[in-house]
Amino acid sequence: MRTHYCGELNAKHIGDTITVCGWVHRRRDHGGVIFLDLRDRQGLLQVVVDPDTKDAFATADRARSEWVMQITGLVRARPEGTVNADMPTGEIEVLGREVRVLNTADTPPFQLDEHAKVGEEVRLKHRYMDLRRPEMLENLMLRSRVTTFVRNFLAGHGFVDTETPVLTRATPEGARDYLVPSRVHKGEFFALPQSPQLFKQLLMVAGLDRYFQIAKCFRDEDLRADRQPEFTQIDLEMSFADEEAVMSLTESMIRELFQAEMGVDLGAFPRMPYAEAMARFGSDKPDLRIPLELIDIKDLMAKVDFKVFSGPANDPNGRVTVLKVPGGASISRKEIDDYTKFVGQYGAKGLAWVKVNALSEGLEGLQSPILKFMPDDVVMALMERVDAADGDILFFGADSTRVVSDGLGALRVKLGHDLNLLTHQWAPLWVVDFPMFEDAGDGHVAALHHPFTAPTVDADTLKTKPLDALSRAYDMVLNGTELGGGSIRIHDQAMQQAVFDVLNISAEEQREKFGFLLDALRYGAPPHGGLAFGLDRLVMLMLGATSIRDVIAFPKTQSATCLLTDAPGVVSAEQLKEVGVRIRQDKTETM
Ligand code: AMO
Ligand code: AMP
Repeated sequence: MRTHYCGELNAKHIGDTITVCGWVHRRRDHGGVIFLDLRDRQGLLQVVVDPDTKDAFATADRARSEWVMQITGLVRARPEGTVNADMPTGEIEVLGREVRVLNTADTPPFQLDEHAKVGEEVRLKHRYMDLRRPEMLENLMLRSRVTTFVRNFLAGHGFVDTETPVLTRATPEGARDYLVPSRVHKGEFFALPQSPQLFKQLLMVAGLDRYFQIAKCFRDEDLRADRQPEFTQIDLEMSFADEEAVMSLTESMIRELFQAEMGVDLGAFPRMPYAEAMARFGSDKPDLRIPLELIDIKDLMAKVDFKVFSGPANDPNGRVTVLKVPGGASISRKEIDDYTKFVGQYGAKGLAWVKVNALSEGLEGLQSPILKFMPDDVVMALMERVDAADGDILFFGADSTRVVSDGLGALRVKLGHDLNLLTHQWAPLWVVDFPMFEDAGDGHVAALHHPFTAPTVDADTLKTKPLDALSRAYDMVLNGTELGGGSIRIHDQAMQQAVFDVLNISAEEQREKFGFLLDALRYGAPPHGGLAFGLDRLVMLMLGATSIRDVIAFPKTQSATCLLTDAPGVVSAEQLKEVGVRIRQDKTETM
């Protein structure tokens, strides 16, 4: 139906007769001449229709926004003074000779140029309209180029693209499962996979050696700007591989992708132990573009009268730390109040501060609501510890380690953006040496990565001091986002059982949930390891998008619904009966 895409025509085509198809982006009537901006996936093209070509003119006159047209005409240079340097097709226009309406359109729910004025709800409800926006189509096209690149890269390194089941058993990755009732086995349920983790390990036991899959994963968890209930992983696994092998291969893949697609050289990724990342940045995914660090002062605060600080300073699970912001002394009281509310979201009960106005004046040169609670020598030792300079503001966090790290870690990132402190555009790194487990409160421990990750210690040591054990896990972080994570796995059945024991999973439960894995590990499982990238997050970062929804064709809302199809929806009593499910009328829930 067409000879060219609208967006690909340029001065080289002057003098050619071409046919294009697309949507009317804008129609303008310029005193007897009609201009149609025709749009397709590749871009916009200006078409001019004169009254000389009577039929064409009448049709163009009738056309309205978002009608679908087929236009044949002559490519010509735009008259002097009307060239648009901002448009790839801005040097030319098409003199339309034959104009055909392929389809009409109702008045659009919003003008594409004015999408920002309508709420995201309207855009998600009419997603096919929202996706017509050139930047949205470009996002999808970049995503496709990324998956093509990844497939070629991995196939070129001997990885075999293998599908794993979507109707399966629970694979624990720390979220809730989406469940699917079985009709044939009433009362029984499939779980949608949170990741292909167990199947990819079984493929290693099978001898496939190198597996990859662009895999859909499903997690029923609290959603945020970079999380979706249904998302895509670039998932891979390799046998006879150690950390070095997995990390160097995946690092090369990301480096080559950025080079090929964006001309960006990410360089060699630095590596940082988890403990260092938490200490210096309060985060296991530090944004290294921001030149601010946390400085611990627990030892200095152990004896002060100020209970807010001395309490956590004397608590083994407490943390007392300073975030120093050079030049921050100009931050206003109102802004400090806002930052106090901000850290409050992470559980912080306050945000003490000191402004360093003139160090040479000693205590007189410091301004703060808390210094009156501290002996002078402690204040001076503090200034020395943080290497304070005139113009600095010091923010303090004193609470449990988690509250302080989360709160000041997030404040560090916020200040970095608010004060425009970012030193460079791309900051990749590997975070390594994660603990195996974290304290889950109630006397139990939980796996930090997943329970199939190998520890660095033997089973006996693991069982006696689980919280001290490190794992062979690694995360790739880019600009403060966890792009991917993986580990070397347990390939020894006894070790796998030891980890389940530490996690307090009973022998029965181990058998019921993971019997197939424990069995497989007894039949000659090779050493293996792998990693999974979040594809959506990767594309989002490459585009500088702020919402994961901008890189997914049909995303879900923050409350995990699809506004376009109105899913999830109620089903008929008949269907429920068939799958043996009865809906509980729980009064508190239906209110
Ligand atoms: P993990 O749970 O770390 O590891 O997931 C890997 C990567 O997937 C992305 N991701 C998400 N993206 C969007 N929405 C979500 N809800 C979401 N959850 C995770 C992140 C993350 O780094 N089986 C292991 C991998 C392995 O060990 O090989 C796993 O799933 O970018
Ligand atoms: P208060 O004694 O509660 O009035 O607090 C004095 C100062 O300490 C205020 O600036 C509070 O914002 C701050 N503050 C209170 N609790 C904490 C905390 N847990 N961590 C850091 N600063 C705090």
